[in-house]
Amino acid sequence: MTEHHKPERLLVTGGAGFIGCNFIHYWLDQHPHDHVVALDALTYAGNLASLEDARSRDNFHLVHGDICDTELVERLLRDHRIDTLVHFAAESHVDRSIHGPDAFIETNIVGTHSLLKAAKQVWLDDPGTATADHRFHHVSTDEVYGSLEPGDPAFAETTPYAPNSPYSASKAASDHLVRAYHHTYGLNVVTSNCSNNYGPYQFPEKLIPLVIINILHGKPLPIYGDGMNIRDWLYVDDHARGIELCIQQGQVGETYNIGGNEERTNIDIVRTLCTLLDARFQADASLAARFPDAPPANGQASDSLITYVKDRPGHDRRYAIDATKTEQTLGYQPVETFERGMEKTLDWYLANEPWWQAILSGEYTQWLEKHYA
Ligand SMILES: NC(=O)c1ccc[n+]([C@@H]2O[C@H](COP(=O)([O-])OP(=O)(O)OC[C@H]3O[C@@H](n4cnc5c(N)ncnc54)[C@H](O)[C@@H]3O)[C@@H](O)[C@H]2O)c1
Repeated sequence: MTEHHKPERLLVTGGAGFIGCNFIHYWLDQHPHDHVVALDALTYAGNLASLEDARSRDNFHLVHGDICDTELVERLLRDHRIDTLVHFAAESHVDRSIHGPDAFIETNIVGTHSLLKAAKQVWLDDPGTATADHRFHHVSTDEVYGSLEPGDPAFAETTPYAPNSPYSASKAASDHLVRAYHHTYGLNVVTSNCSNNYGPYQFPEKLIPLVIINILHGKPLPIYGDGMNIRDWLYVDDHARGIELCIQQGQVGETYNIGGNEERTNIDIVRTLCTLLDARFQADASLAARFPDAPPANGQASDSLITYVKDRPGHDRRYAIDATKTEQTLGYQPVETFERGMEKTLDWYLANEPWWQAILSGEYTQWLEKHYA
């Protein structure tokens, strides 16, 4: 039977990252009276500018801290009388996990365990006035299921785990710990495994913002291998809606797949962005003045920048999500089409140049070091 949970006081880890900040915007829009606390270590991927609107509200609080700090998390759960913890905080970039896996083990595994310990302590062992109707929502990825061949059925919740990168292995380990805290201690956990997200506020090392910004600067568009790796793409607000349904109606101890039904090759993604940007430059002459190095500012096509580079080691070939369970039990359906989602994303990056310029110029990193050293 589906259990209904009514969240009112949320702790969102990783709230200054890409999906975390979009989730917070979504949540405060849908539930304007809820109390929301974001806990974020403000690593290179965390950005206070992504939370500017939320920070002006009385019912939103940003705490600069580490999920590995179990005492801090316990204090936040108690002081803010949190009933729902939504866990996004992670090291999230596969390429970085190949060059330096240690941070992934520390944050994704040890950090998740630290949160579970704090939640157990406050909600189960020494609850005092803490709510009995608690929820620990763990945000995970489809990458834990490994890689598919063309024609293989999409990943279901029953697909055995087969992570291939240090990133996906660390996420798989955290999923197992979350599961174990439910089965062993009775913590009310729900896990969602989601496909590739895209949308506003994504750090420019990830494919879609990287391509947009490189085109605007007339820089090469690096494509790994033959460009035929396939991902299932989901607009980030649809992920937030899926998590909302899991939190409210998901059955404790269960896992739910969230996907977009939009399988695309990497080269398709890049060519789509090139076509969209060429059209934007044609329709708006001011873009050529703002971005004089972009090929369409000089009468050339953006796809002239495509450059094939050596493949990523162990690069998974295909991910695809079967979200039937989430659709049938929670009524989940993505709202955004791929075409519309890509246009919205592109227009956001064109309209929010100061956000990404601050990251590229190192201005944001310097500011962070000065204020949060
Ligand atoms: N991006 C995707 O396509 C995708 C898809 C499926 C699942 N996920 C999962 O969603 C979550 C969020 O992903 P994202 O793309 O927003 O990541 P991100 O890298 O943009 O953001 C991660 C955030 O976590 C914070 N953080 C890192 N270490 C921390 C620590 N020790 N303590 C507190 N905060 C810390 C960072 O400062 C940053 O704000 C991750 O758990 C990721 O595995 C991502």
